Amino acid sequence: MKKIVPMLCAVALAACAAAPQKPVVQKDALYLSLGGQAGIDRLAEATVRELLNDLRINLFFANGSMAESRRLLAEQLCAISGGPCTYTGRSMEEAHSGMYLVDADFDAFMQDFAAAMNAVTVPADAQRRLTALFEAMRPQIVGQ
Ligand code: HEM
Repeated sequence: MKKIVPMLCAVALAACAAAPQKPVVQKDALYLSLGGQAGIDRLAEATVRELLNDLRINLFFANGSMAESRRLLAEQLCAISGGPCTYTGRSMEEAHSGMYLVDADFDAFMQDFAAAMNAVTVPADAQRRLTALFEAMRPQIVGQ
């Protein structure tokens, strides 16, 4: 028994030393690479500008308050990028309910969003991550 205990300890220590170290990823890394709140506000503003100039889909926005949509979009961008915000708007299903959006509408939105990210020079890696986060919302937005 006297020998077994130190042996077990040695095995356990060796296992710990061999365990791969998880890279430490800051929760708000994406938020920071967007330039924090100021960068996100600029991105939300640029997105709304692109949407309003897009003849394919701007009629959808004709009756709403774009100031409020921009505020909620900024809040949502802050929340999904790990920033210190809570999204207070409606769910994506609720917000787009009755619009009967199709994939082409969503694609147009994503193109406008890409143009906005370029306009405010969001770094390429952050662009890819944000695009993936928005793309994941497609099923909650299209066909509601
Ligand atoms: C990933 C894609 C999208 C995101 C993240 C997004 C996000 C949002 C957010 C946060 C709101 C405000 C929610 C609220 O009022 O509580 C909203 C509203 C709205 N969205 Fe989207 N949206 C997306 C795609 C689209 C598309 C493809 C269209 C149409 C082509 C669209 C049209 C609208 C309209 C018309 C409103 C209501 C505006 C108003 O009442 O002022 N959205 N969206």
